[in-house]
Amino acid sequence: NDIYGAGLSDQKPPISFDPTKWQSLAKERLPADSFGYVWGSAGTRQTDDNNKEAFKKWGILPSRLVEADFPSLKTNLFGDEYDYPLAIAPVGVQKIFHPNGEVATAKAADGENVTYIMSTAASTSIENVADANGSGSRWFQLYWPSNDHMDITASLLKRAKDSGYKVLVVTLDTYILGWRPSDLDNGYNPFLRADNIGVELGFSDPVFQEYFRNKHGISIEEDVSKAAAEWAHTIFPGTSHGWNDIEYLRSHWDGPIVLKGIQTVSDAKKAREHGVQGIVVSNHGGRQQDGDVASLEMLPEIAAAVGDDLEILFDSGVRCGADVVKALALGAKMVLVGRPYVYGLAIGGETGVRHVLKSILGDLQLTLHLSGIKDVTKENLNQSVLRQIRT
Ligand code: FNR
Repeated sequence: NDIYGAGLSDQKPPISFDPTKWQSLAKERLPADSFGYVWGSAGTRQTDDNNKEAFKKWGILPSRLVEADFPSLKTNLFGDEYDYPLAIAPVGVQKIFHPNGEVATAKAADGENVTYIMSTAASTSIENVADANGSGSRWFQLYWPSNDHMDITASLLKRAKDSGYKVLVVTLDTYILGWRPSDLDNGYNPFLRADNIGVELGFSDPVFQEYFRNKHGISIEEDVSKAAAEWAHTIFPGTSHGWNDIEYLRSHWDGPIVLKGIQTVSDAKKAREHGVQGIVVSNHGGRQQDGDVASLEMLPEIAAAVGDDLEILFDSGVRCGADVVKALALGAKMVLVGRPYVYGLAIGGETGVRHVLKSILGDLQLTLHLSGIKDVTKENLNQSVLRQIRT
């Protein structure tokens, strides 16, 4: 009502409420290379296209004359209550989108009561993001150094735990960066920039500092380009771990562990066998592998197979309230949003991220309300509210 009231006196909102416009607004503000980095996808963008198409294959069935107030969006994960079934997807190097980078996003997440998932590839330290996030809900995403660097992994996990990050999210689809033509054409790697803003988290790690000194006989400050390359290689080691390595993480993290990047029922079952608490059904927003199946396509069968034992989270392609409704109805308990808030960050820093979060949450609540769905519990929000559209 405030927004419509302002419209009556000819005041337009500073940022559009149309989620399809955020990408082009961000493009106007960003240099071509950092815009290419957020917009970019693997190969011919088939996976990214599939992600978005998959949402259009489902329609929401509204129920009428449901006596209900505004629906509750509260959800429960790992025994804790969360205000919203929405989280900030882990995104690295946020200073390439706005000078305040992760600090702006972590403040926005706290301000809107949305969970912030901090990336290992951040351009801000674990501790500074925690300060900015204050009493907000925050989780830590690990890019998992190889087994030669278990001490660095242990150091990152300890720093995260000490700084109040509650859940560990381990990304499994990015032990090496994907084939992304937009970055290749721009000759752009955000971790190897001359200004080194992509590597602050690594440079602030005492175990990494010591490793670098032992290996090269100099400190990070003496050759920052070499140190940046070393850090990038540490978190993207080019080699995948195996399932048995989960045990090591378990022994260094006493909270919930969530595996991000699960795309098949068989991997979801292995996750359960190896004793983790949750999974993110995700293909990294199509940024890693071309020609991959849409994550939404896989969600119902994965949720049916392991949803009673593991918390199911979802990302890849969520752009609006209706998309969140569909992902929740198909079995997710929490949905992560990636590119849209990064566009918000580029458009207006903390205010821009808050705008995007508010928009998606407002749209979500109205969509549920107008569909006669009372809340986001499995009882009231499940596949019975959807129709698969015939193609
Ligand atoms: C990402 N993503 C990501 N994931 C992760 O686990 N760690 C990371 O550091 C990053 N970094 C990153 C940077 C940028 C610029 C983007 C756009 C994405 C993937 C992210 O967490 C999420 O899986 C996808 O963004 C979800 O897809 P949508 O919402 O962008 O379609």
